[in-house]
Amino acid sequence: MIEKLKAMADEARAALAAAQTEDDVEAARVKFLGRKGQLRDLQQGIKDVPAEQRPEAGQLINQVKGELEAMLQQRQDELAAGSGPADAIDVTLPGRATRMAGRHPLMQVRQDMINIFLGLGYAVAEGPEVENYHYAFEALNYPDDHPAMDEQMTFYIEDDVVLRSQTSTVQIRVMESQEPPVRVVVPGRCFRRDTVDATHSHTFHQLEGLCVDEGITFADLKGTLLSFAHGMFGPDVRVRFRPDFFPFTEPSAEFAVSCYMCGGDGCRVCSQTGWLELGGAGMVDPNVLSAVGYDTERYTGFAFGVGMERFAMLRYGIEDMRLLYSGDMRMLAQF
Ligand code: DAH
Repeated sequence: MIEKLKAMADEARAALAAAQTEDDVEAARVKFLGRKGQLRDLQQGIKDVPAEQRPEAGQLINQVKGELEAMLQQRQDELAAGSGPADAIDVTLPGRATRMAGRHPLMQVRQDMINIFLGLGYAVAEGPEVENYHYAFEALNYPDDHPAMDEQMTFYIEDDVVLRSQTSTVQIRVMESQEPPVRVVVPGRCFRRDTVDATHSHTFHQLEGLCVDEGITFADLKGTLLSFAHGMFGPDVRVRFRPDFFPFTEPSAEFAVSCYMCGGDGCRVCSQTGWLELGGAGMVDPNVLSAVGYDTERYTGFAFGVGMERFAMLRYGIEDMRLLYSGDMRMLAQF
């Protein structure tokens, strides 16, 4: 009898827990607690229990009854609350709008840059962000301990493992993997120990370009960068080249574009100079070409590198570089 009671109690608990509607609860009530229910049967069977066990059996029956009644009430309340008018679906409420994702301004600029070069017959290459000293400096013709390396503000991971400070490292990897002609652009993240402020970031993006073939001259470099400037800023801008130094190019230049806002007269965007400096460029140093096994009598090339942040900030009027990395939807939703 006690066994039966326990089995019935288990069954009743499970039925109540599984009840999904008020009707389910009512069915369980009738089956277990009803006037012709199982508990009632067990109660009536008590007279057959040996006298000395009767008090224990009676007590247990009352306990189970109390428990099941409480559980029944609770389940009823829960289901009633769940289906009440307060919780019903209000079909007149406006729906939740799906947020449309957009491209990050930096990625828009990246894609625009790449598209211009795809149009000029370039391929896209990528390379590792963690580099060894050889690709980071040596193969780019930095002499050991040369002060030009200081300018790179490099993060060292180990003595000969660094975070690349420029995408120029990928020039070497591309040339090692193929023979000329080479025409690639390399978008990618770079890292420098710069103090973060409105125009500096420890992590930033560059687009590198490399072209190596027979008969490539500085004139090709100028024409290519002019096409690039026109593609980015429109057909009216001019480009300017001034001497500069990079270990991996000779001659080297910094290049600028006439301010697209004022046409070169001087305004707030170009800090009254009429020019916007965009990056570095030059003819690939023959030392770099011969180090990857290219025949320097036969091949010449040019290379260039531009920062992407600068373009994004100019184009979208973003005055603080840190906003680009903030992930702040109020900023990002504007583009
Ligand atoms: N890597 C240089 C920098 O980060 C930019 C640069 C200059 C890239 C000249 C080039 C180049 O490919 O030829 O400042």
